Amino acid sequence: MAEFHAIYKCEICGNIVEVLFAGGGDLVCCGQPMKQMPEQTADSTLEKHVPVIERVEGGYQVKVGSVPHPMLENHFIQWIELEADGRVCKKFLAPGIEAAAFFPGPEARTLKAREFCNIHGLWRA
Ligand SMILES: [Fe+2]
Repeated sequence: MAEFHAIYKCEICGNIVEVLFAGGGDLVCCGQPMKQMPEQTADSTLEKHVPVIERVEGGYQVKVGSVPHPMLENHFIQWIELEADGRVCKKFLAPGIEAAAFFPGPEARTLKAREFCNIHGLWRA
């Protein structure tokens, strides 16, 4: 059963979807169940996936990893998301640019950042 706000990926075609409302059914793509991507929170080696949230003038800066993540054609961060007091913003990235995003907004009481690496999956802070 699909979960609200969860990310699912098709292991055949690569489609990635996010659930905006959990209706109770299972998600299927290319004839098979989609795989729910776990929200990973700790890198076993260098911390190059866990998002780092920093309050800066006028908003929040989110960087991917305390060690910068590669942004190569075959290995890169596809998007960074910040949820601040229930308001969600995403920035979509591409190879060759920095794995970071600025999200304008007031200081928030609750913050959650997620990012998606095309090889290593979903990460949360
Ligand atoms: Fe990665």
